[in-house]
Amino acid sequence: MSDYILELQDVVKTFGGVTALNGVHFQLKKGEIHALMGENGAGKSTFIKVITGVHRPNSGRMLLEGKEVTFKSTDESSKMGIAAIYQHVTAFPDLSVTENIFMGQEIKNKFGIYKWAEMTKKAKELIEPLSSDIDVNKAMSTLSVAQQQLVEIAKALSRNARILIMDEPTASLSKNECEQLYQITERLRDEGVSIIFITHKFEDMYRLATRVTVFRDAQYIGNWDVDKISNNDLINAMVGRELTAMYPEKTAKIGDVIMEVDDISKEGYFKNISFNVRKGEILALTGLVGAGRTEVCQSIFGIMPPDSGKIVFEGKTVNIKSPIDALKLGIGLLPEDRQTQGLVNELPIYQNVTSADMSKFIKGGVVDTKEEQKKAIELCQKIQLKASDISAPPSSLSGGNQQKVVFAKLLNCDLKVLILDEPTKGIDVGAKYSIYEIMNELAASGYAIIMVSSEMPEVFGMADRIVVLRNGRVAGEFDPKEATQETILNASLQVKTEGGH
Ligand SMILES: Nc1ncnc2c1ncn2[C@@H]1O[C@H](COP(=O)(O)OP(=O)(O)OP(=O)(O)O)[C@@H](O)[C@H]1O
Ligand SMILES: [Mg+2]
Repeated sequence: MSDYILELQDVVKTFGGVTALNGVHFQLKKGEIHALMGENGAGKSTFIKVITGVHRPNSGRMLLEGKEVTFKSTDESSKMGIAAIYQHVTAFPDLSVTENIFMGQEIKNKFGIYKWAEMTKKAKELIEPLSSDIDVNKAMSTLSVAQQQLVEIAKALSRNARILIMDEPTASLSKNECEQLYQITERLRDEGVSIIFITHKFEDMYRLATRVTVFRDAQYIGNWDVDKISNNDLINAMVGRELTAMYPEKTAKIGDVIMEVDDISKEGYFKNISFNVRKGEILALTGLVGAGRTEVCQSIFGIMPPDSGKIVFEGKTVNIKSPIDALKLGIGLLPEDRQTQGLVNELPIYQNVTSADMSKFIKGGVVDTKEEQKKAIELCQKIQLKASDISAPPSSLSGGNQQKVVFAKLLNCDLKVLILDEPTKGIDVGAKYSIYEIMNELAASGYAIIMVSSEMPEVFGMADRIVVLRNGRVAGEFDPKEATQETILNASLQVKTEGGH
């Protein structure tokens, strides 16, 4: 018998001229949680899709409990007990939780009629231990991202998965939701499920994994026991160089107030929100997921204008009814959900970058495509985009690189206030640093930046001022030089700090 439940040897996968996997190895022990890490575009998601049969490898071997297997479809891998939760949610949003769980394996009577009552009962039994507040009759689209992931896990369990692969499952989760997911993952491991956990968050790895494998530029770099490799060595393995600091030095001078958000409210989302932001300043908007941060940003940007209150921009009260109004004033938004809100798959990468402001490329009534591409390339280099062909659609990019395209798109616009909703979500440790550098550069050139972030180290590493939201209201404003992570967390949770512990 093999020591490994799953083993891959020398796997090669190319897409046209792009080599996504160049002879990678991987060994998964029975009942372990194994982290798979590496930069954006390193090949992690592609590797998962090779395992599950979404992609056929060009060459290489896959052994399941020591026996060689090949999968032509996800049906085949699923029958062998392999399930995956992909990086981008693949569920059917309009169908119910029950329908999603039993998709393709519906329980039928002998006449082929679906037995809904039985499926609903089974769905409840599967979901209950994972979460008590998911209604299996509700449409997937009504659930939070965290809840949708739990449904995917229930679906995997309904198929008796022995191997569960999760591709960046914590990217959009709050701290509490992460903790819940950790506990569920550990429970599955204790029940004998072997787990591959892809993540950019070191916290996930330290909390869950006993071993870690690193890919870089389509290559296998190595695997280690988590407790035997230092943080620095691991970063080195991923990035290929030492990272001396996590946050760049700040050089911006803080100037006058450029925008004032004055007592804005939106029924059902937030109430009496006031804060301002200055030229050259990075203002962090933090709080728990669901505190109303994204909604406040969308309101300022004109996606859902507030019911009352006002926004004063450069000293004048402005009426922002749509994103076009906002962009005209010089207010830009990097949306949290880049995949659906930021990218157009029918356009090549370079046009995605330039589309929001084409005026600079029009000469004598026609688009100067050369100039347009030149600018796009320049911006893509700036954000360290890994793309082999900027004329390809964004869907050909890795998840993290798709996010960077939306960032580049904003850099093409001439803005004054930049609202960044979780700017480094899903971004690898090396590229994070360059995004922070860009933020500092923009601030130094006079931009005001509002950064929504759930990552406390990022808030403290980058912000000049911190505004905490709780339940759709401002819970406090803090100076990062004086506040601690605990103060901020307490404000987010409304825990009184008096009495001090
Ligand atoms: N369908 C596709 N067509 C063309 N190229 C692709 C396709 N899917 C992936 N690639 C390329 O393969 C490489 C690896 O991408 P992959 O999505 O596996 O990276 P990743 O490690 O998951 O990155 P991330 O951390 O950003 O999610 C990238 O260069 C990507 O552009
Ligand atoms: Mg990926």
